[in-house]
Amino acid sequence: MRFIETDSYGELSLLAANMLSAQVILKPDSILGLATGSTPIGAYEQVIENYNRGLLDFSEVKTVNLDEYVGLDERNRQSYRYFMSKNLFDHINIKKENTYLPNGAAENLDEECSRYQKLIEGFGGADLQLLGIGRNGHIGFNEPTDYFSREVYVEKLTESTIEANSRLFDAGETVPTHAITMGIGTIMRAKKILLIAGADKKDIIEKTVNGKITPLVPASVLQLHSDVTVILSKN
Ligand code: GLP
Repeated sequence: MRFIETDSYGELSLLAANMLSAQVILKPDSILGLATGSTPIGAYEQVIENYNRGLLDFSEVKTVNLDEYVGLDERNRQSYRYFMSKNLFDHINIKKENTYLPNGAAENLDEECSRYQKLIEGFGGADLQLLGIGRNGHIGFNEPTDYFSREVYVEKLTESTIEANSRLFDAGETVPTHAITMGIGTIMRAKKILLIAGADKKDIIEKTVNGKITPLVPASVLQLHSDVTVILSKN
């Protein structure tokens, strides 16, 4: 595991964007695993800047996102599909049909989970998977529990995660209680993993990088992967 500390969020974003950009330059038909949350927004802005400078071409890139809220369809402003369009997809030349997220509005969620799992397996996993981290160590929406999930599944979100997510919802909007997420096994199929975290995640990053490998700190499983970079911003 490579561990990098940066002096600022801006520096973290630039490093992460450089890694994503390099991946697309070196392999124009990359499968990029993408994440939502506030942490990756700066990296996406830098990727868009690189694209606007003419440095990147996304016409052959495919993306798979980690997760999506159950019950929200893509027109919902709180859906992760909406987030990805607004913060990245609408600003680069990626084909919409090459951007994949679980469908949180699917009628049969079990079928949707297995469809999404098979899709990712069909791609052979992501070439580079970007991750944020929850304060309790969740990656995607794999909440702390007593086992690691192998495949895409529906997670019941913890109170603390619902509370953390609620800051992004307007008063009166219902905060989802469930999400479809890649399982730990799905995430670990990625060839390379990049985990980024702001200064507020210092403690959980310490446990992730140096602590025991336990499903009670889901991100700690990354210690078992052979190509992980963790970037933490000190400020
Ligand atoms: C949600 C997402 C995670 C993300 C986490 C942290 O739970 N499912 O993928 O890592 O939020 O988000 P933030 O970066 O806003 O702290």
